[in-house]
Amino acid sequence: MMLSNKSLKNLLSLFVILLTINSAAYCQSSLLQNIYGRNIQSLNGRWNYIIDPYEMGYYDYRHMPFDQSPSGKGGFYDDRKQKDKGELIEYNFDLSPNMKVPGDWNSQSQRLELYEGTIWLRQKFNAAPQSDKKYFLYFGAVNYEAHVYLNGKKLGMHKGGFTPFQFDVTGKLNKGENFVVVKADNKRFPDEIPTVNTDWWNYGGITRDVLLAEVPATHIADYKIQLAKNSLTRIEGFIQLEGAQKLQSVTINIPEAGIKQTVTTDISGRAAISIPVKKMTYWTPEAPKLYSVEITGATDKITDRIGFRTIETRGQDILLNGKSIFLRGISMHDENPLIPGRLRGQGDMRMMLQWAKEMSCNYVRLAHYPHSEEMVRLADEMGLLVWAEVPVYWTISWQNAETYNNAEKQLSDLMIRDKNRSSVIVWSVGNETPLSDPRLLFMSKLVAKARSLDDTRLVAAALEIHREGNSVIVNDPLGEKLDLVSFNEYAGWYWSNTKDMLNYKFNIKYDKPVVITEFGADALAGYHADDETRWSEEYQELLYKNQFKMLTAIGGLRGMTPWILVDFRSPRRQHPYFQDFWNRKGLISETGKKKKAFYTLKSFYDEMQTKYK
Ligand code: GCU
Repeated sequence: MMLSNKSLKNLLSLFVILLTINSAAYCQSSLLQNIYGRNIQSLNGRWNYIIDPYEMGYYDYRHMPFDQSPSGKGGFYDDRKQKDKGELIEYNFDLSPNMKVPGDWNSQSQRLELYEGTIWLRQKFNAAPQSDKKYFLYFGAVNYEAHVYLNGKKLGMHKGGFTPFQFDVTGKLNKGENFVVVKADNKRFPDEIPTVNTDWWNYGGITRDVLLAEVPATHIADYKIQLAKNSLTRIEGFIQLEGAQKLQSVTINIPEAGIKQTVTTDISGRAAISIPVKKMTYWTPEAPKLYSVEITGATDKITDRIGFRTIETRGQDILLNGKSIFLRGISMHDENPLIPGRLRGQGDMRMMLQWAKEMSCNYVRLAHYPHSEEMVRLADEMGLLVWAEVPVYWTISWQNAETYNNAEKQLSDLMIRDKNRSSVIVWSVGNETPLSDPRLLFMSKLVAKARSLDDTRLVAAALEIHREGNSVIVNDPLGEKLDLVSFNEYAGWYWSNTKDMLNYKFNIKYDKPVVITEFGADALAGYHADDETRWSEEYQELLYKNQFKMLTAIGGLRGMTPWILVDFRSPRRQHPYFQDFWNRKGLISETGKKKKAFYTLKSFYDEMQTKYK
């Protein structure tokens, strides 16, 4: 008996569904899109913690993991109470100190400033689970490896210090009190992403929100609603339902744009969308228009705020909504220098982005790893274009398949999370990675993965450069596959000086828009001297002025993100007076003091603004 095409397709979809259901039982569920638009209970607050450098709470004395032992007991995750005075328990969360979550541990205790290892964190919370709902325990980020337990039972583990993850905890919540325990471990290893060598502080812990989300049994799990590639007149994307009632009519409503369209999901819960656009205010940094987008199905409804714009390159131009722009940018880490520590909430993030706006920026490079969803949503709201990046940084283990899978997972999770954010225009697959065939293969695969997930944004990386005499050569083979020619050049700091740097010329192989990803110099705020004295504000200021002269000679220059908005912590910066574990290339000091070069860059951007009206 021959099966019709339609029956074959349905059979295949059924197989996919069964496979998905089966695998979901053993690992995290795929990310809910727009977690903040859900019915969420925050588990943020003060969590008790136990420092565990020898992982006593995870391994028995024969170094066997407790959570794989027959009893499943013995680890710090079962939070047992001492039942009788004869019982030996060598830990107690209730009597242990507590720390803020979200928040890295390094910035919350002197003894943890340089700590690299395991810390157990526990939070108690009340829940009232409904039988017709599903529940997901969501983490914005835990650096670097997290093992998560709910009410003494393991939910799973996650690797990657900057991307969100979640566990389906439906049926695992108590009515009343529950407790969640996280084993967070920020030790570095050569085969991880990033590897052991980074110029940023290895902040460990639960550094972003922890949320318990409640959704209908059949819910709108994911969606993409964006302008189609290079089209100002059509919205394209998809709706994805999860749950038993996958066949539904779903309506996408954008009232302010006079858009209302209903689609029907198929047996896998998916429907493609393609909606003509008649009248729309396109998102720009100057006018960051966000539309309220309502998605309504038979069992679930969700609202998001989405901006609509196109981004493309044409020759050496970058076109936003079809108009050539210059990216007046600045790089930044996910760190509030005033703490110092990881950015913890909207207040921190708004401060950083406001400093960028003050400098007449229309663009930020969120280096060198995924920043929080809140940060990117703020960029949507405040009108800043975004270069997003994964920490494929420097000397990665290019020939390790696990390392590649890790990098690809982090890239995919970033792109899945932020696919509806108008501010994001560039997916960067890495930074300053040394040339080799294995590296080219690894990075090229990442580029291909990025393009397969999203054809509406640019793909880039900070390429390698080398010097021959006074010529700076940019011919990194990875550049063939990218939309931009981006690279870090430290003329006047790591090579040459403020006097001789103007002798350098750039020899760029590719006829594409050039967006410089880094240049800069260290300056200790308040240290004043002549402009040939390193570490002085005057040296940094002159270097910026000479950089502008040098870079504007590049015909295809269409943007830059000087390194960096604010001084930041780094274990690689040991000069006791000028650095003291701070990288001083910031245009603002760790006390919030603007250095002279802040104003130099601002006036350069004010000039560029008139040129690119
Ligand atoms: C490199 C790197 C940065 C680093 C900077 C510096 O280009 O990309 O992460 O902080 O240079 O040396 O200050």
